[in-house]
Amino acid sequence: MNKRPHVAVVGATGAVGIEMIKTLEQRQFPVGKLTLLASARSVGKKLKFHGTDIAVKELKKDSFAGIDIALFSAGGSISKEYAPIAAETGCVVVDNSSAFRMDPKVPLVVPEINAADIKEHKGIIANPNCTTAITLMALYPLHKAFGCKRIFASSYQAVSGTGAKAIAELERQVGEIVQSSPVTREVYPHQIAFNVLPHVDSFLPSGYTKEEMKMENEGRKIMHHPSFRASVTCVRVPVYRAHSVAVSAEFEKTVSVEYATIVLHQAPGLDVIDNPAKCEYPLPLYQSGKYNCAVGRIRRDCAMENGLCFWVSGDQLLKGAALNAVQIAEELLK
Ligand code: A2P
Repeated sequence: MNKRPHVAVVGATGAVGIEMIKTLEQRQFPVGKLTLLASARSVGKKLKFHGTDIAVKELKKDSFAGIDIALFSAGGSISKEYAPIAAETGCVVVDNSSAFRMDPKVPLVVPEINAADIKEHKGIIANPNCTTAITLMALYPLHKAFGCKRIFASSYQAVSGTGAKAIAELERQVGEIVQSSPVTREVYPHQIAFNVLPHVDSFLPSGYTKEEMKMENEGRKIMHHPSFRASVTCVRVPVYRAHSVAVSAEFEKTVSVEYATIVLHQAPGLDVIDNPAKCEYPLPLYQSGKYNCAVGRIRRDCAMENGLCFWVSGDQLLKGAALNAVQIAEELLK
């Protein structure tokens, strides 16, 4: 790999694409050249990188000549069509969509957990689901210490996970309600302002949603833990940014809150904020814009023998998407 690679961001104008550009800049990734790609609608737009304006180009089949690393975040169908073309052209794709995550030939990576899997890539590396990545930042260190059998969890997912249009929808609906105007809907099937929707992604015949099953499926692959089980309810909440997850985890070994807290303090990319007496616990409002995820409310689960409950929050545009993708790119240069 070129030590000063030519990097492309596919979906550069989107909620995650913008964060990818910022993260490359903030982490001083040694970008030799940056190419920004989006739909024909964005041609003519300019985005800043290290103070220089870069014109957005239209994504085409021949966009990848000379590019070393392409960070994709333009949705699953664009990834399915263009990621294999990019890989064929010789560039390494880090794909944020769900298109290739469960493909056995494609590594699915959270660098703090399974960076070594990157070496097995054949041109495409997948970035995990945002809620899964944030949960595993706290769950994996506990799994290593105590052996996790299964979890029961509920997520509290921010609207920015749906993209720029959903952020605008929440803002618009709050304005409509304040002005006592009728509430308009475009993105979600119900009003999201002052409401919560137990519905993220499409429903499966089992009654779970696709998003809910990503925790078990992707969790097994990332943690190399084929018997891991996860029963999850994913909920969209009127929060702009940062997802939170309430987890009850059952372990093989005897757990203690004291040892679990030590383990979590030592975990990379994770802060422990756990002082209930002072009302200190992770909050999505304050995790927004942060690279690290945060865990708190750590306690013995009173409904199982070797169980722990915890609450983890993280910026899903960063650890759940852009940051994780840039960290994978950093590993490629090592
Ligand atoms: P564009 O802004 O030109 O539509 P979000 O998740 O915030 O909605 O962003 C989606 C990203 O994917 C945007 O950068 C968007 O570009 C890009 N995108 C959507 N459709 C296409 C397409 N057909 N070709 C290339 N990029 C696309």
